[in-house]
Amino acid sequence: MAETKKLLRALAGEVQDVPPIWMMRQAGRYLPEYRATRAQAGDFLSLCYNPELAAEVTLQPIRRYGFDAAILFADILLVPQALGADLWFVTGEGPRLSTITQQSDFDALKPVDAIHETLSPVYETVRILSRELPSETTLIGFAGAPWTVATYMIAGRGTPDQGPAHALREENTALFEALLDRITAATIEYLSMQIEAGAEVVKIFDSWAGSLKGDDFRKYAVEPCRIITQAIKARHPDIPVIGFPREAGDGYVGFAKATGVDCVALDNSVSPEWGAAHVQVDGCVQGNLASKHMVTGGQALIDETRHIVEAFSKGPHIFNLGHGITPDADPENVQLMIDTVRSR
Ligand code: CP3
Repeated sequence: MAETKKLLRALAGEVQDVPPIWMMRQAGRYLPEYRATRAQAGDFLSLCYNPELAAEVTLQPIRRYGFDAAILFADILLVPQALGADLWFVTGEGPRLSTITQQSDFDALKPVDAIHETLSPVYETVRILSRELPSETTLIGFAGAPWTVATYMIAGRGTPDQGPAHALREENTALFEALLDRITAATIEYLSMQIEAGAEVVKIFDSWAGSLKGDDFRKYAVEPCRIITQAIKARHPDIPVIGFPREAGDGYVGFAKATGVDCVALDNSVSPEWGAAHVQVDGCVQGNLASKHMVTGGQALIDETRHIVEAFSKGPHIFNLGHGITPDADPENVQLMIDTVRSR
């Protein structure tokens, strides 16, 4: 049977007049219905581990806007927690974790096999979603890339320059690499379980890839993504993989070939013309409207949306933002973006 889902068609390389659309963080604090369900759950992590409520917030933006894809509601930091790190969220500040600075911290982590004990509610969320999503909507599973996840595990929080992770990489390379290997192995198992539960595509978020330069980018961004993608493809040959080495700049060039991903997500630090010439030549791309337009709206949103659709119109493209939508976004601007893409 010919594939009917727009997102899967783009990932298979089909050029479409109107590209499929979804948004990073589409279930989030800019939506009043999300805030209400989160309050019902109590806090963010309780929401992540409550399959019924996590499925509900995943479905909210699908009901409101009819996006072509739903992304599982969870967080990249659930994997460190499943490996035994302490994890909590400080309101208004972000995540906090126990740190990894020495061998004994690493030795206290759990083995990869143990992760499913913590993560099984996430697989249940995926099962609910694969039953409840409209037949035209693609379900995307995800995980953080090993480098990005490691930056949080090492520092115990988000950091502007990933300084603690770079310091460990230089001062104790063996420990740093052992940590990356553990996260890589856990990520393969986690994504495989999401696929077995019904995820149709998986995305690997390397939000801090841009701070790895030269050979470090190859060793710690490209190589783990290649290992994960190859392992997923060996087990699930028909499942497309989206890679997002955010702010990779020139590192975007050749990333699909080097890793085997089916699609490269572009942030908005690169122009769509550059992305079309240097990245879309190798296959599907996703992106890359600046999230600020979801706050400011107006003619600038319309013009930039049209510009991006036009620039990527000669190859396979999935319309998305360059990074997650922010809590101060206006839900009406999201509708304006969708109408602009679909009225093409
Ligand atoms: O895209 C989606 O809608 C799916 C769900 C999703 C979340 N986080 C929910 C979330 C996804 C794919 C993520 C990925 C994620 N999480 C990344 C990679 C992508 C990126 O944004 O760079 C990272 C680095 C994290 C870690 C994380 N989670 C941070 C740093 C924070 C705090 C910052 C913030 O925006 O508050 C989170 C919290 C988080 N994850 C929220 C959501 C909806 C907000 C939590 C809340 O409701 O208070």
